[in-house]
Amino acid sequence: MDAVTAMMQVSVPKLSLAELEDEFREQSSLGGDLIQVKSSDGGWVFRSPSTQQFAPELVKIASADQPGVHETETKGKRYRVLTQPLEIGGRKYLVQVAANISDFAELQRKFFWLTMLLIPLMIVGASTGGYWLSGRAFKPVTTIIEKARSINATNLSSRLAVSGNKDELHKLSETLNGMLDRIESSFKKVQQFSDDASHELRTPISLIRTTAELALRRERDPETYRTALNEILIESEKTSEMIESLLVLARSDASSQPQLPLLKTDIAAIVRDCCNKVAPFTQSRELSHVVDLPSTPTVILGDAKFLERLLLLILDNAIKYSHPGGQIRTKLERIAGSVTVTVEDTGIGISEEDLPRIFERFYRADKARSRDGAGAGLGLSIAKWIADMHHAELLVASSVGQGSSFTIRFPQISVE
Ligand SMILES: Nc1ncnc2c1ncn2[C@@H]1O[C@H](COP(=O)(O)OP(=O)(O)O)[C@@H](O)[C@H]1O
Ligand SMILES: [Mg+2]
Repeated sequence: MDAVTAMMQVSVPKLSLAELEDEFREQSSLGGDLIQVKSSDGGWVFRSPSTQQFAPELVKIASADQPGVHETETKGKRYRVLTQPLEIGGRKYLVQVAANISDFAELQRKFFWLTMLLIPLMIVGASTGGYWLSGRAFKPVTTIIEKARSINATNLSSRLAVSGNKDELHKLSETLNGMLDRIESSFKKVQQFSDDASHELRTPISLIRTTAELALRRERDPETYRTALNEILIESEKTSEMIESLLVLARSDASSQPQLPLLKTDIAAIVRDCCNKVAPFTQSRELSHVVDLPSTPTVILGDAKFLERLLLLILDNAIKYSHPGGQIRTKLERIAGSVTVTVEDTGIGISEEDLPRIFERFYRADKARSRDGAGAGLGLSIAKWIADMHHAELLVASSVGQGSSFTIRFPQISVE
């Protein structure tokens, strides 16, 4: 249209009608053959042959003098018609250019139907694909969930599969497996503890029962009854001691157990007290006990009751595992600001294999000997726990046949 207008603006003032027609013919052969120009008096300035032949509708529109773009259909073909008024040299014209858009319309129609068909297909495809993809992406998570659900107290040793890729899921599986390791080891400890506890408790209880049954089987003299009752008493004392120890350990295991309140305590006084308390036992076992304590108070942060228990446990062992005539030496020292309490004996000693295990619950180096020695193998595990509560170290040095030395090293305190 711009080309036609430009051509007319140039040509109309200087060309005759016949020459203008020629010019139009040339133009129409170049830019499309549907061109018609009407002058304001109603006469046609130019009508291309195709316009006359194929598009009577265009004539109608042109006659209606409607400027703008219209679409019209004729003989099964669709045209887009642009009508524009034009004024050149005081004369008015109406220029009309049309284009056959049937192919385009057909294409548009086909495209419309194709889109209508493809959109649902694409939606279905995308949803199915998305579902499949998310299913694939979440498959490892689902596997972890299923596996985690299947793990319980009976199969605590199962672990989640760890993927090869070092991604977040790999980390998640490893973290959960680490957690399972910790739970399993605590669970095993608890199980071992309760197994050992019931086993250890069964022995004195069955001894008490057998002694009583035997005594009651027939009429006996008072002396036999007294002996039986005495045995029963000794075994019950052992049992209640053991139950007491088990309770201490069970409480120490409970995570809600608060830390011991540690107060300024004179450890020298506690050691002196304990040595006095064990004096009857050292004497009865013909042991000499050398006690080397400072005369002035030695203050540490601690719990007097538990410290006494700790010392008695160590002293009890020193007495129990010594030969008659042996010597026990208890000393308190201040070394480089820290306070150490050492209990040395000249007893049976502990072998190298046993040494790392003596702090374990129910561990006894010599089970046969310990049986009549009344120990259940819980003493040192309680001692270790009490030392831990005081942030103290419990160290042992020993050689078989030579004797043992247990040292409790309390940390330095700044306030005294
Ligand atoms: N002073 C010691 N001399 C020799 N062996 C010792 C001494 N103290 C502890 N032991 C060994 O360590 C084991 C664990 O001690 P403990 O936990 O107190 O249990 P228990 O005294 O009930 O046997 C003892 O059974 C013993 O074999
Ligand atoms: Mg003991």
